Amino acid sequence: MTKVDTRLNVSPVPPDEIFALNGAYAVDPHPQKVSLGVGVYRTDDGKPWPLPVVQKAEKELVGDDDLFRHEYTAIEGDVPFLGIARDLMFGFEGKQGEEEAKARIGSVQTVAGTGANHLGALFLAHHMKPANVWLSDPSWANHETIWELADVPIKKYPYYHAETRSFDFEGMMSSLESEAQEGDVVLLHACAHNPTGLDPNKEQWVAIADLCERKKLFPFFDSAYQGFASGSVEEDAWAVRYFFNTKPDMEMCVAQSFSKNFGLYGQRVGAFHYCTNRASVTLRDVVVNNLCHLIRGEFSMGPRVGCSIVKKVLTNDELTADWHQDLQVMSSRIKTMRKALYNELVRLQTPGTWEHIIQQNGMFSYTGLSPKQVYALKDKYHIYLLKSGRASISGLSQKNVAYVAQAIDDVIRNEN
Ligand code: LMR
Repeated sequence: MTKVDTRLNVSPVPPDEIFALNGAYAVDPHPQKVSLGVGVYRTDDGKPWPLPVVQKAEKELVGDDDLFRHEYTAIEGDVPFLGIARDLMFGFEGKQGEEEAKARIGSVQTVAGTGANHLGALFLAHHMKPANVWLSDPSWANHETIWELADVPIKKYPYYHAETRSFDFEGMMSSLESEAQEGDVVLLHACAHNPTGLDPNKEQWVAIADLCERKKLFPFFDSAYQGFASGSVEEDAWAVRYFFNTKPDMEMCVAQSFSKNFGLYGQRVGAFHYCTNRASVTLRDVVVNNLCHLIRGEFSMGPRVGCSIVKKVLTNDELTADWHQDLQVMSSRIKTMRKALYNELVRLQTPGTWEHIIQQNGMFSYTGLSPKQVYALKDKYHIYLLKSGRASISGLSQKNVAYVAQAIDDVIRNEN
C-alpha cells in the first residue's frame, strides 16, 4: 500500500463474506449462476418474494396520514409494535399470570436482528460486564463481530460434529459445564441454527436450560427465523418460551428479527427484549431507560415504516391468518428444495451421505463441502456459497437443482 498521510490508525479488515459474495454474484454475467450465499428467501424463479400479506398491509397503510407525516417516534420505538413483537415471541396471551409475565419483559425497537444483537451485547457489556460470551462453533459470523465490538471476550462451545454432520450436544454440554463461569453469556439460536441448520430437540433444550440455571449463566437468544423455520410461530419459539416460563428466577434476553419471517430484509425491523427474574420485576423500567440511553446515543430510535407493516398484519385477524399462510409457503418450499437436492445427489450416486440435507432445518444447509470444493463451484459453475460449505437452500429452484447437484457431484469426485 502506498504511504498516506493520515492521523488514523487503520489497516484493511476482511470484507464481510456474505455480502461480498452477494456483490460478486450480482455482477456475474453467467446465465446459469446460482446464489446460495446470503440468507434471503427466493421464489422458484429465483426472485425476491414480497409477502402477499405485506403487500396488502402496504396498500392499507398508504392512506395512513399519521405514518406518512414521517414524525419521530419515541426512543424505545413504536410502543404498540413492541407489545405485539413481545407477545409473538413469548406467546402468553390469555394465559394465567399473563400480566405478571409481561411485567418481567422490557422491550425496545432495534435496527433489525443485527441491531438487537448489538444493542444487547453493548447493554450487557456496560451493565453486566460478563467475563465471557459463549458462541456456538460455528455461529453466524456477525455474532463474533458484534461481541468483539462490545469488547467482551469470546469463547466457543462445540456445536457441530463434522464426521456425523450432526449437532454435538454432548460437546456443547460438557464444555459449558466444565469451563463456563457464573455470569457468562451463552448465545443460543432460538431455531434454525445459522449456519448448520441443526437445532437441539426439546429434551436437549430442557437440559440446556437446566445447565444455564444451575451454573448461573445468562442465556441470550437470537431469534431470526420465528415461523420461517417450521411454518409455526409457536414451534419456532418453543425454546425461548420454555426458558422464560419454566425458569422465572433466571434473567435472559432475546434479539428478535422480522427480516426473514416478514420478508422485510431492507426495512430493518427488530426488537430487543430483556427478561428480568421474578425477584427483580421492578427493574424492568430501569433496564428500558438504560437501553434508551444507548439507543439515543447510537441511532436515536428505530425506523417507522417496517414496524408499521408488522403491526398492521398482527393486529388484524385476517391478515394474521394470511401471514401464517405465507410462512407455510416459504418453509415448505425450502423443505421441498432440500428433498429435491437430496434426491438428485442420491440419483447421481454422489460419494458420501446426504441425509443431513433433509435433516437440517431452516434457511441453511451445512453441506460438508470443503473450501476447495466451494471455490470450484464458484469458479467452474458460478454457484456461490460460503466457504464453510453453508448453502442458502432458498437459492435452489426446480430449474437449477439438477445443475447444482451435478456440480456438487463433480467437485466431490474431483476436488479433494
Ligand atoms: C445470512 O446469514 O446470510 C443472513 O442472516 C444475512 C446476514 O445479515 O448475514
